[in-house]
Amino acid sequence: MKIVSTIQEVRECVNAWKKEGKTVGFVPTMGYLHEGHMSLIDAARENDKVVVSIFVNPMQFGPNEDLASYPRDLEHDAKMCEAHKVDLIFHPTSEEMYGDSFYSYVDMNVLTEDLCGLTRPVHFRGVCTVVTKLFNIVMPDKAYFGQKDAQQLAIIRRMVKDLNMPLQIVGCPIVREPDGLAKSSRNTYLSEEEHRAALVLSRSVFLARDMIGRGERDCKAVLAAMTAEIEKEPLARIDYVKAVDFENIQPVTQIKGNVLIAIAVYIGKTRLIDNLVTDIIE
Ligand code: PAF
Repeated sequence: MKIVSTIQEVRECVNAWKKEGKTVGFVPTMGYLHEGHMSLIDAARENDKVVVSIFVNPMQFGPNEDLASYPRDLEHDAKMCEAHKVDLIFHPTSEEMYGDSFYSYVDMNVLTEDLCGLTRPVHFRGVCTVVTKLFNIVMPDKAYFGQKDAQQLAIIRRMVKDLNMPLQIVGCPIVREPDGLAKSSRNTYLSEEEHRAALVLSRSVFLARDMIGRGERDCKAVLAAMTAEIEKEPLARIDYVKAVDFENIQPVTQIKGNVLIAIAVYIGKTRLIDNLVTDIIE
């Protein structure tokens, strides 16, 4: 496994693979890797070569967010990638990605305006811009994103479609701790007590799944039950509990087709997200 930090090194490596007719799978990350990322890497093994980027992208953090404290551990990340047979890690500096001045952005309307876009107004512009840059650098055949960041996945799919980017986006299921908590690098911020309190997120998602499984199709009823469940936890403060169409992130009232039921909840100072995507054909 190679670890490189310059765009030129990535290009040289990928160009050599492409000349040999190899396919390239790409997993963009911000590092502090966990089993969720490993499931993306394992899925990307369907390609001949696997590239992982590790870059805490300053552009997707708002001024009062956790850019400075975001956990970083390259040594641990490299070991995990090696164990999962990654071929290349791209670990650039901010200077390598953005130089000393930068004026171009990739932005999107509609899909970015609800859910996390409401509390994180610059977030998705930063994500779309860095992901476009990474796609242009790595030139993968396929790129892999977790469904835990479901709005991000919908936005990337739409961006690739709208801008005719020549690659396929693969969405991968949420990976959970044995106790149900969705894996996230930000779980490291939680104290033991907060971790226990954070289980209210998956509990409310499982409650929704069970209600829908029993035939409930009214979003209002499902969201009300989820909200009541979360409100039982004194350390939890709801940011949103919403149901939207998974493709265009517009509000829906009935559960039919691919509905994204998404929540964001503060546990102490840590903002966590979780979700469920339905697949109801009736
Ligand atoms: O999901 C993430 O970790 C980030 O948003 C991504 C896609 C790597 C872009 O920085």
